[in-house]
Amino acid sequence: MKQKLIITIFGATGDLTARKLLPALTKLNKDRLIEEQTKIICIGRRDYDHASYLDSVRKIYPDNQDLDRIKPNIIYFNMSIEKQTDYFKLKELIDDESFEDTRKIYYLAVGPDLLEVISKNINASHLIEKKDINSSIVFEKPFGQDLESAKAINELLWGYFDEKQIYRIDHYLGKEMIQNILTVRFANKIFEDSWHNNSIKSIKYIVKETDGILNRGGYYDTSGALKDMVQSHLLQMLALVSMDVPKSYQSDDLKEEKVNVLKRIRYDKESLIMGQYEGYLNEKNVNKESKTETFVFLKAFVDTPRFKGVPMYLLTGKKLDIKESVIIVEFEETAEQHKWHFPLKTNKLYIKIAPQDGISLALNSKVPGLSDDVESVELEYCIACNSVGNMPEAYEKLLLDITKYHKRLFTRWDEIEYSWQLVDEIKQDFVASSKSLVTYKNFDELKKLIKEKTNEVF
Ligand SMILES: NC(=O)c1ccc[n+]([C@@H]2O[C@H](COP(=O)([O-])OP(=O)(O)OC[C@H]3O[C@@H](n4cnc5c(N)ncnc54)[C@H](OP(=O)(O)O)[C@@H]3O)[C@@H](O)[C@H]2O)c1
Repeated sequence: MKQKLIITIFGATGDLTARKLLPALTKLNKDRLIEEQTKIICIGRRDYDHASYLDSVRKIYPDNQDLDRIKPNIIYFNMSIEKQTDYFKLKELIDDESFEDTRKIYYLAVGPDLLEVISKNINASHLIEKKDINSSIVFEKPFGQDLESAKAINELLWGYFDEKQIYRIDHYLGKEMIQNILTVRFANKIFEDSWHNNSIKSIKYIVKETDGILNRGGYYDTSGALKDMVQSHLLQMLALVSMDVPKSYQSDDLKEEKVNVLKRIRYDKESLIMGQYEGYLNEKNVNKESKTETFVFLKAFVDTPRFKGVPMYLLTGKKLDIKESVIIVEFEETAEQHKWHFPLKTNKLYIKIAPQDGISLALNSKVPGLSDDVESVELEYCIACNSVGNMPEAYEKLLLDITKYHKRLFTRWDEIEYSWQLVDEIKQDFVASSKSLVTYKNFDELKKLIKEKTNEVF
């Protein structure tokens, strides 16, 4: 029998709840992966009843027919996030719905400014007791604005909750190919044996978007690409690709190895390019003199015996040529290179994260037919093309893991700490340098600049 489950969502009138969390819970319910009677307590400050709340969700929810499935599981609870007495009323509702071993999850789908007040009130109203392993708190990135604020948030959380009860979400870790990185690396001898600086020439981590900041000016202008993308998604990708063999695949053993990488990253100051797309200053809720970057490129190194000397390129930005998230592992030329009459291309492994998950491997092969020419060919595995039915979304996997107390796909404090240390250093170096933001119209201009600085083609 599945454990009784109550999920309480703060910020349930927001985009994340309607677009990601409720659809993920519907799918888990449909697939019978969570208990059928699971209660989803949706908290909002708006004066809705059950029907009008669902009407508001329907406007954003991707598939409206689906929503009907979990209609009976949803309870809309109108309360003020600041008022402690309201938390006691919430506790009465949750107590009425629960048994002794009910799994209780409190999901903060709100901006980081509300984290403190909600955590404090959850603690004061005994919604979560430190010793109660069945109760957990989940919160979203951004984990602070810099190392100092992240430390302060963390201290606060540790004051109220036990580390075992805390789930820090970076939804990238729930993506299919991100989960697959360790399998591709460690379950395949051909890769594991060549996954080091003798065989790998360079690694590129690329997350490109074609959109601008859409309607998120208020948030984005205080953040920028470095804090919004590099601190979380890109450094997590780099840690998974560069880490050493873990003692086991248990959460803490994996994290030890990821942290060993994160604390050994060194970046090349000369390579740094920060850009802002033309027209950014006219976006809604953006300061007219904003110096916020919408593009970052840098070359880094991981000073571990495995990867010492291998350049790792990080690139992310908005309003670029295509929407794509990919890791490109380029292998060294073969020692036989000079014996060939034809120029050989290097082998490249593409770990494709979005828009379509998959892997492809570029190899040299003889051109079919009578000639001896060589061409580069690609072996391709497209995950979505081969799966039956829809692929699970990242939030489905992450929510399911929380219900099962699995912490592998959630970040531990020290991962965040070392990521912020690097990001703060880059930010400070940039401000202290005489460099200025590059205003760009398109990706071609940036590609040219990168080529000039590093000789790398993107
Ligand atoms: N949306 C996504 O796809 C996504 C993806 C990854 C991470 N995140 C993160 O998830 C968090 C929520 O994002 P979101 O996109 O859902 O934001 P959102 O659409 O702006 O929703 C914010 C929610 O917080 C509530 N809220 C704001 N101020 C409040 C206050 N003073 N008192 C009570 N409630 C308050 C809002 O209530 P009202 O409706 O009454 O204003 C709303 O329910 C953010 O930290 C974001 O960075 C979001």
